[in-house]
Amino acid sequence: MPKISVGRDKKDREEYGLKGTGIIGRHLVGEKEEAHKANPIYFDLARPHVMGVFGKRGTGKSYSLGTIAEELQTTDISNNLSTIIIDPMGIYWSMKRPNDRSITVLEDWDLKPANFDAKVYIPEGKTQEFEEKEMPYDDTFTLKPGELTAQEWAMAFNIDISSERGILLERVVSRLEDSYGTEYRIDHIIEGIKKLDFSEEATDGLVNRFNAAKDWGVFGEESSLEKFTTRGELSIVDVSVFGELSSGWSVRSLIVALMAKRILKERMKARRIEEIDEMQNISENEMPITWMFIDEAHEFLPANGKTPASDPLLKWVKIGREPGVSLVLATQQPAKLHPNALSQCDIVLSHRLTARQDIEALGEIMQTYMRHDIKHYIDALPDMPGTGLILDDNSERIYPIQMRPRKSWHAGGTPDAFDE
Ligand SMILES: Nc1ncnc2c1ncn2[C@@H]1O[C@H](COP(=O)(O)OP(=O)(O)OP(=O)(O)O)[C@@H](O)[C@H]1O
Ligand SMILES: [Mg+2]
Repeated sequence: MPKISVGRDKKDREEYGLKGTGIIGRHLVGEKEEAHKANPIYFDLARPHVMGVFGKRGTGKSYSLGTIAEELQTTDISNNLSTIIIDPMGIYWSMKRPNDRSITVLEDWDLKPANFDAKVYIPEGKTQEFEEKEMPYDDTFTLKPGELTAQEWAMAFNIDISSERGILLERVVSRLEDSYGTEYRIDHIIEGIKKLDFSEEATDGLVNRFNAAKDWGVFGEESSLEKFTTRGELSIVDVSVFGELSSGWSVRSLIVALMAKRILKERMKARRIEEIDEMQNISENEMPITWMFIDEAHEFLPANGKTPASDPLLKWVKIGREPGVSLVLATQQPAKLHPNALSQCDIVLSHRLTARQDIEALGEIMQTYMRHDIKHYIDALPDMPGTGLILDDNSERIYPIQMRPRKSWHAGGTPDAFDE
């Protein structure tokens, strides 16, 4: 019986076998309550992928992201990878703790609780808030305002680029770029706005926005984004402090936009050097292949409208295979995710979905090798946490799966009122 490996094409299966894979769960055979766990499902971690993780509330999306991140940390090629989790809810810090509450479930899978050497990063200006709330973190990060384009600022501030404010913004940014490249601060932007001769309304409006941006606590003189791509490391970028308001999501999107742009650029550079190394038989890669996990991905890459992160993420989706970047997008509603991202997924893990438009959105991708319509497969899943379907474009197969229990603690569980 050949082993089940998803995300791996025939050529790689023949050449590498199971090297560079991780076990994420077991194949579910049979329907509904009759279903039983059969063979392990191996997951390819060595090649770049675009993966969608879907399912309605509380079905295991965030949990499953953590499981894949655990496998990236323990696989035999872990040293050639780096993993980043964009954590809008502030739940992944708990990967530093072993999952002691699930010892018996883990035993059933021949697994033991384990803690992971995750590094939790928070915005430099938010340390006080974390300390007051006794939320643990390891290090801080900053972004350089000069790395943002006028368009990205406009999207973050919700300013129409063709309005007076938009024109002012564009002019200031382009002047600063001409004089300083990327070496300027928010105060320079504010000074620049005041120097130009625009209406008071446009000037004040824009100055206010930039003053507010200073309070986000993310801007500094240096960009520390390279911290996130350290070989073998798992970085958790905790962006939970910005709140649930749309302005909070704008800041998060700016952070993701800069990260995505920077990492892609670095990987493209590295890829060129790696190619030369390969010709000379040097095998270690220049820069680790980067996996980025984005929870609540529809907020960053929505089907309707645009965020600063939209274009950079779509670029990952479109050309990420060549430079070697992987993107894992989790959302409750695949129909709310940008259709180009959805159609480019080569692996989908779908936990239970019930809304018609979401099932339809899912049905539209990868339908060629399905024997039944997608709803049939979803209905056959047993109603248990962590069950789902894997749709794999690489092997053109669909597998019902029971995702494995986490070795590390999952902090995103549903709270209950039973405790005394
Ligand atoms: N593979 C699994 N094995 C065991 N329990 C699981 C598994 N997956 C999920 N669960 C349980 O389900 C709960 C909810 O999972 P999770 O937090 O991942 O939901 P979610 O899909 O991210 O929900 P939301 O949309 O609200 O963010 C977990 O706290 C855990 O108790
Ligand atoms: Mg979740």
